[in-house]
Amino acid sequence: MLNLILFGPPGSGKGTQAENLVNHYGLTHISTGDLFRFEMGNDTPLGLKAKEYISKGELVPDEVTIGMLQNKVNSTPEAKGFIFDGFPRTIAQAEALDVFLNEKETTIHILVALDVDDDEIVKRLLNRGLTSGRADDNDEDIIRNRIKVYNAETAQVFDYYGKVDKSVKVEGVGSIEEIFNRLKTEIDKVSA
Ligand code: C5P
Ligand code: MG
Repeated sequence: MLNLILFGPPGSGKGTQAENLVNHYGLTHISTGDLFRFEMGNDTPLGLKAKEYISKGELVPDEVTIGMLQNKVNSTPEAKGFIFDGFPRTIAQAEALDVFLNEKETTIHILVALDVDDDEIVKRLLNRGLTSGRADDNDEDIIRNRIKVYNAETAQVFDYYGKVDKSVKVEGVGSIEEIFNRLKTEIDKVSA
């Protein structure tokens, strides 16, 4: 199994690169943001709960997100490995993920972080908002809050996996192909 965390602030290109990585490594992509959007689109109880937070650029409570993630992993027993995109977003989520993977006798092999500065991110998200249909991409205040929450609660997850030498940073500005090659270089070091 190869399990990787695709890390970085909102708008850093995680979703775009996840698609390339799925094709190249044959892994199963799990984006917790996409799962929430699916639930919201169907007005499920989980979706309605998530919407309270997502519409403000806040994080959905850990227990809700962790439970949803576990269900998704458990429903894909044939997976060769996972790309976790947008998860873990807090230290508590990282700890829960480690315990969960441990119980399955596997682990996180690498966390790759896409490095993109704040001004570039705001620009990209506002641009994405023109076509994404996402309310949280259309409002600069919500975008700024998402970045604030990322810096306050999520950035530490990089150091958490750094303590066990699993975190690497990759320049997140350049062509899609250039960035993909940078990611591949790092992932191949742990999957060879
Ligand atoms: O990952 P993505 O940027 O698509 O997530 C969109 C929103 O979903 C986040 O801004 C946050 O409100 C919520 N979310 C969350 N916890 C996660 C993933 C997403 O609260 N682990
Ligand atoms: Mg995404």
